[in-house]
Amino acid sequence: MKKPAPGPQGYPLVGVVPFMIKQGAEYLLSAFRQYGDVVELRLLGSMRMFLISHPDDVEYVLRKNHRNFLVKRPSMHLEAMMGNGLTLSNGELWVQQRRLMQPAFHRQKIEATMASTVSQVAERIRHWGAAGPIELASEMEQLSLNAMLAALFGSGISNSETRRITDAVALVLRVAGRGMFLEIPPFVPTPENLRVKRALKDLTQVVLGLIEQRRHTSGEEQRQDLLSLLLEAHDEAASLSEQQLRDEVTSLLVAGYESTAVTLTWMFYLLSQDPGVEQRLRQEIGTVLGDRAPTLADLPSLEYLNQVISESMRCYPAFWAMTRQTIADDEIGGYSIPARSLIVVSPFVTHKHPGFWEEPDHFDPDRFNPERSAGRHRFAYFPFGAGPRVCIGERQARMVLQLSLVTILQQYRLKPVPDHPVEIHTSMTIRPKYGMLMHVSPAGLQS
Ligand code: HEM
Repeated sequence: MKKPAPGPQGYPLVGVVPFMIKQGAEYLLSAFRQYGDVVELRLLGSMRMFLISHPDDVEYVLRKNHRNFLVKRPSMHLEAMMGNGLTLSNGELWVQQRRLMQPAFHRQKIEATMASTVSQVAERIRHWGAAGPIELASEMEQLSLNAMLAALFGSGISNSETRRITDAVALVLRVAGRGMFLEIPPFVPTPENLRVKRALKDLTQVVLGLIEQRRHTSGEEQRQDLLSLLLEAHDEAASLSEQQLRDEVTSLLVAGYESTAVTLTWMFYLLSQDPGVEQRLRQEIGTVLGDRAPTLADLPSLEYLNQVISESMRCYPAFWAMTRQTIADDEIGGYSIPARSLIVVSPFVTHKHPGFWEEPDHFDPDRFNPERSAGRHRFAYFPFGAGPRVCIGERQARMVLQLSLVTILQQYRLKPVPDHPVEIHTSMTIRPKYGMLMHVSPAGLQS
């Protein structure tokens, strides 16, 4: 017989919302450790949320019975920015969009959009260390944003357009991240909401301008960026409106930029905590590349690099929670789940499930060598999601992570500034709460 799921009571009226706001991903992990694979977490009023952590149940939600679990829009501000873009849409519209956009993410297309990544990273890091420690989290944000903008718009974007897009996206992400569990609706005219409204208007103007420009130049110049590929798909299907194109572009930007940046930041942090792993990685890079800049053709030979990246994303999966809403009553892991419940599957939690991971709090890239990976439950590890809504940008993200990590390690050693606190802050992604202050020295020098 189906039974009610266990879970903390929380406070009257507001349930566990204060804990979620304060501790986010870490609260979910502690709830899982206390209550098990299915936990009910009470939210505001009568809203019910279930944390689902066993890989079998994650598979049920994300793949086997995904039609009963609609993607839930995490914030009204985010919705205003991404509209009906691929990330937030559901049903027939989503099927259509995914079909239209998939060809733009094929290997050869993505490889063509990656052409300038290495030189861009090299340029961005050229002055590191000259003026003392760097704040790595914001450096990685700039680097990842440049990579995303180059992939989306190629070289056809000016500095002022870049700045306007950056400012708008950063503001909305900050406000949406803060409001994930309790949000002042965008129509309430607080000073912040008005700022967001202006930023969104500006964002729309820039993106529509770029689309318009591209329409006029596409015949003259064969471009390989995502915008051109989207426009091609658009022209063939004749089914994406201008507004829909804006939504797709901003959705890609939002889905790809902060996630890649925080993943890189945590990766350098983990490496700095484990000199043995870092040394082994440097040796691999030295053997495969020497001082030569990496190319896409080198990436398959850098096996340990890939293990380090996979293990970093096990420890710190940027998108720590995927939210869904049930359409009809359901049953998960033997527990009853009513219609219209909020469902959370969290890679941050499942990646530490002791039934599937030995010593889950330990950073150990060898978990991802072929022998130890063999036979692992497919849904015990899902930093890029899983099932039909798996990240469409995974291939691109992995390439940016690989190329950036190698280019930076070839030039520098990064060591955390002693006594600078490192804690997780949960917003849309999991980020270092106080940033990540790092000393940098040339890679050739042992510090
Ligand atoms: C390290 C970087 C990245 C991580 C960790 C990541 C993670 C994820 C995850 C977990 C999902 C599934 C969300 C869900 O099921 O609710 C997702 C979806 C998505 N990602 Fe990524 N992502 C990354 C980079 C990118 C990049 C670079 C792009 C674009 C170029 C991108 C575009 C998307 C889109 C459009 C979706 C929605 C797909 C759909 O619903 O059909 N992501 N990503």
